[in-house]
Amino acid sequence: MKTIARQLTIALISIFLTASITFAQNNQARIKLDIERQIGEIDKMIYGNFVEHLGRCIYGGIYEPGSPLSDENGFRKDVMKATKELNVPIIRWPGGNFVSGYHWEDGIGPVDQRPTRIDLAWGFREDNSFGTDEYIDWCREVNTEPYFCVNLGTGTMDEARNWVEYCNVEKGTYYSDLRIKNGHKGPHNVKYWGLGNEMDGHWQMGHKNAEDYGKFALEASKLMKWIDKDIKLVAAGSSNYGGDWIHWNRRVLEYLVHHVDYIALHNYVENRENNYYKFMATTQFAEEAIKITEGIIREELSKAKRIDPIYIAFDEYNVWYRAQGQEGNEEIYNLEDALVVATYLNIFVRNAHIVKMANLAQLVNVIAPIFTTEKGLFYQTIFYPLQLFANNCFGTAIDAFVDCDTYQVKDREVPYLDVSSAYDKENDKIILNVVNRHKDTAISTEISSQYGIFNGEATISVVNGNDIKDENSMEKQMVKTQTSSMKVKGEEFTYSFPAHSYTMITIPVEAD
Ligand code: AHR
Repeated sequence: MKTIARQLTIALISIFLTASITFAQNNQARIKLDIERQIGEIDKMIYGNFVEHLGRCIYGGIYEPGSPLSDENGFRKDVMKATKELNVPIIRWPGGNFVSGYHWEDGIGPVDQRPTRIDLAWGFREDNSFGTDEYIDWCREVNTEPYFCVNLGTGTMDEARNWVEYCNVEKGTYYSDLRIKNGHKGPHNVKYWGLGNEMDGHWQMGHKNAEDYGKFALEASKLMKWIDKDIKLVAAGSSNYGGDWIHWNRRVLEYLVHHVDYIALHNYVENRENNYYKFMATTQFAEEAIKITEGIIREELSKAKRIDPIYIAFDEYNVWYRAQGQEGNEEIYNLEDALVVATYLNIFVRNAHIVKMANLAQLVNVIAPIFTTEKGLFYQTIFYPLQLFANNCFGTAIDAFVDCDTYQVKDREVPYLDVSSAYDKENDKIILNVVNRHKDTAISTEISSQYGIFNGEATISVVNGNDIKDENSMEKQMVKTQTSSMKVKGEEFTYSFPAHSYTMITIPVEAD
């Protein structure tokens, strides 16, 4: 009898254990939110963007004189409206690879006297009809901060410092007076300046090794800051991960530790193998690169005894592979790409203490969320996560505890749920961002608050579509944001994140 009872007990325990394992594999999850577990303040500049003289980004994108869709300056009105909807705080210009052969003085003064040059980065003709003053005017129209990148490829230190003088000195010097003569009485006050683009890449005009770049950028930055001490400088960090990218960042910071405010990182991901789960995990590398670079920054700050921080500007990122190398690089994005972009944004929020700027590459037509034709524009799938983050996810990033199933990609454990969260103290709400990477199954999740209670109407915005390959076009928005609301009260609630989706839940919280 005793034996039967024992066997029964063992059977029951084993059923229970199997059940709990099944529970874990049944796509149920837990997220614990604690507003006291703070990572850092979210800088709105992590929702920045980038426009380059490449394909139809500038010409035919933001600038199309003569188009019925443009204003008297030649700026496409529909693009300006879409840019405002993206609430873009800062936009990098004029490149990219383009900048490494760009001479900014070609792009100022009477348009009919500006030279046409061969752009060796992309093999286009550049007529320079859109230059510094046009770009500044456009930035003011869309209410965004200009972020200039100087040519440290074929350019000189003089060119770099003269550009700062043209933009930021009020009057009474050669270049500031030239700006006034060109119709801009007040200074442009360009605060953010990049010290060259992807100088670690052999594809770059004027590519250098870390030592040569470090020395050159150091001299350029001295001169630029002597013209305007208040500018913020961004060192060109790693973009070429085929080489010893860690060495590059360390050497560059050794040279520039007393001169720069940011170090840039670039990263693009792709799905050439058409392997959904692998693709959904590709941005994990970006997070690793951030963590490693953060370590190097700390090391260099400490060696140099510098107290002021140096941050990371992740100033190029996106999905880019189908149109890579094609003229114009006009990628048409699908749902899985939008989810990957959402995971990049989660990473920037999760690392908000060190990533203080990020720029999606690029804004219009070229690998972009906005796609124009002569007749109008449409929003690509990747527009929607960016729009949600850039309009709502502010405050202090908080460190969410996530317990969910994982899958394996080589030796990596990838959680199905990719999560970031923020506490917006001013508005008493928590913003929770969740990408459910599961292709087939919704994940029912218990969401709990460790400090204070949820109370009120939560807003739920979901970016999803019927199929991971769904794309948008002029005719159809297959992937877009759907918004609903839900009453929440107490310390927890349950929400089921749909398969292959990105969800933002804005939850009112009573903290005191
Ligand atoms: O964004 C497209 C290109 O990608 C940029 O010109 C370059 O910096 C990067 O390699």
